[in-house]
Amino acid sequence: MTAFIEAASPHTMNTYGRLPIALERGQGCRVWDINGKPYLDALAGIAVNTLGHNHPVLVPALQDQLTKIIHSCNYYHVPNQEKLAAKLVELSGMSNVFFCNSGLEANETALKLARKFGHDKGIALPKIVVYERAFHGRSIATLSATGNTKVQKGFEPLVDGFIRVPLNDIEALKAATAKDPSVVAVFFETIQGEGGVNAMRADYLQQVRALCDERDWLLMIDEVQCGMGRTGKWFAHQWAGIVPDVMPLAKGLGSGVPIGAVVAGPKAANIFQPGNHGGTFGGNPLAMRAGVETIRIMENDDLLGNATRIGQRLSEGLHKALDGVRGFKEIRGQGLMVGIELERPCGVLMQRALEAGLLLSVTADTVVRLLPPLIMNEAEADEVLAILIPLIKDFLDEPT
Ligand SMILES: Cc1ncc(COP(=O)(O)O)c(C=O)c1O
Repeated sequence: MTAFIEAASPHTMNTYGRLPIALERGQGCRVWDINGKPYLDALAGIAVNTLGHNHPVLVPALQDQLTKIIHSCNYYHVPNQEKLAAKLVELSGMSNVFFCNSGLEANETALKLARKFGHDKGIALPKIVVYERAFHGRSIATLSATGNTKVQKGFEPLVDGFIRVPLNDIEALKAATAKDPSVVAVFFETIQGEGGVNAMRADYLQQVRALCDERDWLLMIDEVQCGMGRTGKWFAHQWAGIVPDVMPLAKGLGSGVPIGAVVAGPKAANIFQPGNHGGTFGGNPLAMRAGVETIRIMENDDLLGNATRIGQRLSEGLHKALDGVRGFKEIRGQGLMVGIELERPCGVLMQRALEAGLLLSVTADTVVRLLPPLIMNEAEADEVLAILIPLIKDFLDEPT
């Protein structure tokens, strides 16, 4: 079986350095590979499987939808688009939603909104402020907005019109945009995911909100990874009590069914007119049902509260075990978005965790990242700690 997996990619493009397993089925926070080996899932398909696997309410709802209609297209109304949009509007305090299929599509939509916002104001070459270490996707525009030269290398020329600044430095933002009338938007993740679980401070978020108001810029917050309840609020920026003008979502919104959305506040809600933007699959009945049901279940089961409680348990357990250990740097994140930074590259821990029956990721070379399903319970969180802590300690004990 293992040999089959290793030789199994002659016809798919060589885009991923894959680990040598294939997952066949899952139940709750547990998955099994094709050899029957179980794993505890502390990754959720990179912050996607909000409700874990084979959820007893979601799956029958999706089965029901499959027998009704999977796709219709945007020539016609899709009732669950309206239902999901209304829910996202209620949860965000914003006003209108556009649906697409992925995070990069949602971000691409946000970038188009910002440019059109500028053009509508008579700015011919609008500029958007983006951040160091950001990750926004792999289309030509979103990789240009991304702050990682590894992602960009080989795809030049990059898209123009971005100004890059460091995180959490309001003076740097003011200096980079000083006397530049072509700036139209500021675009960032509340907590950077791929960049290493780096959070924007609440006071910085408030300062940027005020600056955007003062200068008539759009505040665009990529909540693709940190949104949808992962931090214990519906959207991570809500911890700072602010509301953005544009908010791309994806990943956890459909609990595994591909989906993307851009939520817009009043300043951005009417920028697009018919013909400005669209897509064949966006807002299809299956994805919309997945979104509606995911949010309903999250509300019924208080999964935001669970994300806070279990996140705290994980982070307390990690602190208790790792504080003071040589080679351990810090724990970052909020709720069930946890980054454990070590002093040296630790990519090997992904493979070692896999062997020990735990799915997680390592990002930005030195950060072990946990993004479990929001349904994780205390016993499962303790099991994550019981597997992970010895792995990290043994790794840090090794000679460099
Ligand atoms: C913050 C953020 N934005 C955008 C994306 C891109 O999403 P997708 O992979 O669905 O295109 C990601 C993916 O990791 C992400 O973390």
